[in-house]
Amino acid sequence: MTASSYFLVAAFLALVTSQAIASDPSPLQDFCVADMHSPVKVNGFVCKDPLAVSADDFFKAANLDKPRDTMKSKVGSNVTLINVMQIAGLNTLGISLARIDYAPMGENPPHTHPRATEILTVLEGTLYVGFVTSNPNKLFAKVLNKGDVFVFPKGLIHFQFNPIHDKPAVAIAALSSQNPGVITIANAVFGSKPPISDDVLAKAFQVQKGTIDWLQAQFWENNHY
Ligand SMILES: *[C@@H]1O[C@H](CO)[C@@H](O)[C@H](O)[C@H]1NC(C)=O
Repeated sequence: MTASSYFLVAAFLALVTSQAIASDPSPLQDFCVADMHSPVKVNGFVCKDPLAVSADDFFKAANLDKPRDTMKSKVGSNVTLINVMQIAGLNTLGISLARIDYAPMGENPPHTHPRATEILTVLEGTLYVGFVTSNPNKLFAKVLNKGDVFVFPKGLIHFQFNPIHDKPAVAIAALSSQNPGVITIANAVFGSKPPISDDVLAKAFQVQKGTIDWLQAQFWENNHY
């Protein structure tokens, strides 16, 4: 090999081995507090002047110890997400947090986070939880009690259901993105605006178009904010 091809191989190896395994791009400085007012568009948010950063950029009085209202939700759950929109200091750090309240028999319906793995612990009550792998679609499910922990791998469809008819449940989840994103399956498929053609969905779900039209006429409310 010539000297220049050694250099190319070395440069290639340096690139390959320097790929970070973190979910969001790894920070190149201590912090990059989001400047939500900058007109510049980048992947994530532009950094606020570090000299203008204060402890409050890393803080939110989120009252995560307080129960949320689950009675207004049709699915019987309420997700309180603390991401970069709530704490600007999370920008570039690849992490966020959620409190999830479940009514008796309530659920956080099948959904995916396109940008995050999730780790969840049950603070109160019982949850039947699971995720489904990409093809072939195998279900990994488990009943969790208070103190138990479960992991939902990045991008996979998952759910949590409170099977107890007279007790609420509460969970705390951490997610490996400053902005995990959420796609609630039923809402995305049947509640998109404008709607997906019922020809497309009738074929996909192997049902009559009337069944699709009925589903599309329902109100697909989001439990994630
Ligand atoms: C979630 O809980 C908060 C606080 O209790 C409440 O203001 C909000 O309306 C609830 N959302 C739903 C969809 O019930």
